[in-house]
Amino acid sequence: MLPEILLCFLNAALIQAATASLSLNAILSLNSQDLPSPPTFSLPAAQNLTITVAYCSSEAVSTRFFVTNSTSVDDPGPDGGTDVYEITVNQGLGTFSARFLDGGVLAIDGVSSNDFSFEIGASDSGPMHEVLATLPLLGDTTSNQALLFSLPFDPPTFTDPSYPNYTLPGPSLSPPSPPDSSPNFTLLIAPTSSQTLTSLPQTACMMASQASSGNIANESLWLRDEDGWRTQWILAGLSPQTNYTTYIIQDNQKLSGPLYFVTKSALFDCPLAAFLPYCPGVTYAIPLPSPDNSDLSIYDSTNLPSSISDTLTAYFTNFTTTLTTQACGRDYYSPLQTCADCQRAYFRWLCSVSFPRCGEQSPSTTTTISSSTGTPSSTGLPSPTSALQAQTTSSAPRNSAFPSMDTPYSVLLPCIETCQAADRACPNFLGFTCPLARFNANQSYGVGYIDGAEPDQQGLGIPGEAQDQWGNIWCNSV
Ligand SMILES: *[C@@H]1O[C@H](CO)[C@@H](O)[C@H](O)[C@H]1NC(C)=O
Ligand SMILES: *[C@@H]1O[C@H](CO)[C@@H](O)[C@H](O)[C@H]1NC(C)=O
Ligand SMILES: *[C@@H]1O[C@H](CO)[C@@H](O)[C@H](O)[C@H]1NC(C)=O
Ligand SMILES: *[C@@H]1O[C@H](CO)[C@@H](O)[C@H](O)[C@H]1NC(C)=O
Ligand SMILES: *[C@@H]1O[C@H](CO)[C@@H](O)[C@H](O)[C@H]1NC(C)=O
Ligand SMILES: *[C@@H]1O[C@H](CO)[C@@H](O)[C@H](O)[C@H]1NC(C)=O
Ligand SMILES: *[C@@H]1O[C@H](CO)[C@@H](O)[C@H](O)[C@H]1NC(C)=O
Ligand SMILES: *[C@@H]1O[C@H](CO)[C@@H](O)[C@H](O)[C@H]1NC(C)=O
Repeated sequence: MLPEILLCFLNAALIQAATASLSLNAILSLNSQDLPSPPTFSLPAAQNLTITVAYCSSEAVSTRFFVTNSTSVDDPGPDGGTDVYEITVNQGLGTFSARFLDGGVLAIDGVSSNDFSFEIGASDSGPMHEVLATLPLLGDTTSNQALLFSLPFDPPTFTDPSYPNYTLPGPSLSPPSPPDSSPNFTLLIAPTSSQTLTSLPQTACMMASQASSGNIANESLWLRDEDGWRTQWILAGLSPQTNYTTYIIQDNQKLSGPLYFVTKSALFDCPLAAFLPYCPGVTYAIPLPSPDNSDLSIYDSTNLPSSISDTLTAYFTNFTTTLTTQACGRDYYSPLQTCADCQRAYFRWLCSVSFPRCGEQSPSTTTTISSSTGTPSSTGLPSPTSALQAQTTSSAPRNSAFPSMDTPYSVLLPCIETCQAADRACPNFLGFTCPLARFNANQSYGVGYIDGAEPDQQGLGIPGEAQDQWGNIWCNSV
C-alpha cells in the first residue's frame, strides 16, 4: 500500500504529464498540426466511460489512439502494459468503454504531419459519436423532387377514452402542434454514382463538411405516424432517374445512413402530396394534375380538391359513429384491441386506399430480377417486383373522387398488411374484411411483401418490408 502522500504526488505528476484534459460529456475538436506536446489528454473518472474518436478528414493512415484507466501509466502506447487499450478506428469511428474509477489518460500515437482533423468525446451515458442503427425514411420522389424524413423522436402518447364518456376524435383537420425542441438534423445527399460519401469516414463531422445536392424547398416537423415526430424535407432541383445517397447528421455528432433513393424518369407526371393532417402518412406522389397554385409544386391541405378531402372526412365521421354504437370501453370485443385502436387502424387503411400512389419501375429493377446477385431473401428467392399496376387514361380511378389522368401511369398498390391490421383491430359487427391471397387480393393490394401470402406468415414476406435501404419500394404503407 502506498502512503497517501505519495499517491497524491503520483496523481499530480499524472496531471502534469497529460497537458490537456477531456471533460465529461464534451467533445474536443483537434487538428494534428495543433496538438499539445506530448499529445496526451487526462480523462474524467466515471463508472462506465465511453470514449469515441471521430475522423473529420480522410488523412489518418498511421494515427493510433491508446487509453489507460490505470493511474500508474502516464503515456499509454503501442508497448501496452497493464490496463492499456487501443481504440480501434473503423471507417473513421472508434469507440471504447471501460471503468475509469480514477480517471485515466488518452494518448495519440503516430500523429501525421499532414492536416488531419478529428474529434474525441468522453461520456458516462453512451457514445457521443455514433452511426445510428435507424435509417432516415424516404417518403417518395418525383423526377426532380424528394420527400425525406429524419429519424423519429418524441412518439405521441395515446390516452384511450373511457366508458361512459367514450368519445373518439374526429378526423384531424389541423396538425398537432410540434414539440418545443427537436434534435438538430442536417440532411446530406449526393449522387450515388460518384461513390464519394460512402468511401469517406462515416462520421458526423466528416459528412457535415460535404456539399449536398439539390435544394431544400421546405423543412418542417411532421408527426407522420406512431413512431413520433420527424423533420420532413422537400428537396427540389434533383436530376431524373438518378440514384442518390443520403445521410442525416444529428446534433453534429451522430450519423444515420446511408439510405439510397432513386428519382423518377422525366416522364413521371404525378405530384407529391404532404401536410394532410387527416392522413399524415400520405407523403407520396398521387395521380392528380400538377397543382398550379403551390410554391412547392405539391398538394397539401390548402390546395387538395375538396371533393377528395370532404368524402374522406365524411367516411371517417360515419365510421366513428358506427363504431361507437358498440359500448366501447364497457364491452370488450378483444383482449388486445380497443375501439380507439380500431379507429386508428381503419383511418390508416382508408388513407392508403383513398390516396392512390403513383409508382414507376426503377431502372435497375430488371437487372435485380434477372441477375443471380440480386439480394437473396430469407427464403433464398430473388427480390420480387413491386406491386405496380398499370392504369390507362380510360381506367376508372381507384378512388372515384380523383379525376382521370391525361396520361397513363402506374399505381403502387397498398400493402395488404394495412388492411389486415384494420381487420384485426376492429369488432366483427363492422364487417370489415380483406381479400384473400389465394383469390384475387393481388389485384388491389401488394401481397407477400411484408408478411407471407398465407395468414400465419407474419414477417415472412419477400423482402419482409414495404421499402428498403436501397431505394426499392415494394408496396404502399402509410
Ligand atoms: C480498468 O479497466 C478494466 C477493464 O474494464 C477494469 O477491470 C478495471 O477495474 C479498471 N480500473 C479502474 C481503476 O477503473
Ligand atoms: C458501458 O457503456 C456502453 C455504451 O453505452 C455499453 O455498451 C456497455 O455495455 C456499458 N458497460 C457496462 C459494464 O455497463
Ligand atoms: C367527454 O370526453 C370529451 C373528450 O375527452 C370531453 O370533451 C367532454 O367534455 C367529456 N364529456 C363529459 C360529459 O365528461
Ligand atoms: C444545427 O446544425 C447546423 C449545422 O452544423 C448549424 O449551422 C445550426 O446552427 C444548428 N442549429 C441549432 C439550432 O443548433
Ligand atoms: C413548408 O410548407 C408548409 C405547407 O405548404 C408550410 O405550411 C410551411 O410554412 C412551410 N415551411 C417553411 C419553413 O417554408
Ligand atoms: C355518412 O352517413 C350519412 C348518414 O347515414 C349518409 O347520408 C352519407 O352518405 C354517409 N357518407 C359516406 C361518405 O358514407
Ligand atoms: C395474383 O395471384 C394469382 C393467384 O395466386 C396468381 O395466379 C397471379 O399470377 C398473381 N398476379 C400477379 C400480378 O402477381
Ligand atoms: C442505388 O445504388 C445502390 C448502391 O450502388 C444500390 O445498391 C441500389 O440497388 C441502387 N438502388 C436502385 C433502386 O437502383
